[in-house]
Amino acid sequence: MTSATAAEPDDAAGEAIVDWYATAARDLPWRTPGVDAWAVLVSEVMLQQTPVARVEPVWREWMDRWPAPADLAATPPGEVIRAWGKLGYPRRALRLREAAAAIAERHGGVVPADVAALEALPGVGTYTARAVACFGYGQRQPVVDTNVRRVVARLVHGQAEAGSARASDLADIAALAPADHDRAVRFSVAVMELGALVCAARTPRCGVCPVRDRCAWRQAGSPAHDGPPRRVQRFAGTDRQVRGRLLDVLRAASEPVDAAALDRAWDEPAQRARCLDSLLTDGLVEQTADGLFRLPS
Ligand code: ADE
Repeated sequence: MTSATAAEPDDAAGEAIVDWYATAARDLPWRTPGVDAWAVLVSEVMLQQTPVARVEPVWREWMDRWPAPADLAATPPGEVIRAWGKLGYPRRALRLREAAAAIAERHGGVVPADVAALEALPGVGTYTARAVACFGYGQRQPVVDTNVRRVVARLVHGQAEAGSARASDLADIAALAPADHDRAVRFSVAVMELGALVCAARTPRCGVCPVRDRCAWRQAGSPAHDGPPRRVQRFAGTDRQVRGRLLDVLRAASEPVDAAALDRAWDEPAQRARCLDSLLTDGLVEQTADGLFRLPS
């Protein structure tokens, strides 16, 4: 059916976002043409919970040191945890090493291009699998992270915030993608960049937004979020901070350390013990036969 009033084609917003990206994108090293799927996988795992500025130097070190999955797979886990540095959520380092081992064993050392095979790798979920297929292999894929869900919530649904992940997120973003293959691939990173730089959570910069005139949220008068308030993640005093302190001691040590060295990392004994236990359970720390502690060998 055709309509007399010229409705915008579905993908006009997507086209505008791709054009905007050409002028506004950050020059990030994992976006350089020719960066391979392994480099993309490492960048995406690091970027999941850590800001770009902190990831960049560590990612460069990792790429120099472990240019292929088999290189990382052959490295003792303690070395990998040490090289993870202060990126936080260090179980990601162990999962990446396990993924590298699976790639070496099951895929001849080459990161698979198939989304289902990617999702079968340790630590690789819906988002990371599609990011690798799209950014690493040039496939047309919906790549939906928190920033992208916020853009969809505002642009398409007229809501200030995305709420929890929905099964329809992938279809919503796929519907916005341009028809042309290469532009659809670029759209996936462009909409992510729009969410990071313009359609920000707290202070959206609608004045410079390429789709402000098509945005359902703006058309509705930019209503405030009416659900439960966004969670603000606290760090000081949390188990996450204590685990980080304990790992700092072990990362800095070239030999196994005794319990007294760990005691100095945090004053509160019950919390310290709980955190050390959880690090042991997670395989981030191991105890030697003579009762000392070290990163896993
Ligand atoms: N480019 C591709 N993926 C990205 C991400 N997760 N964060 C920032 N830039 C990216």
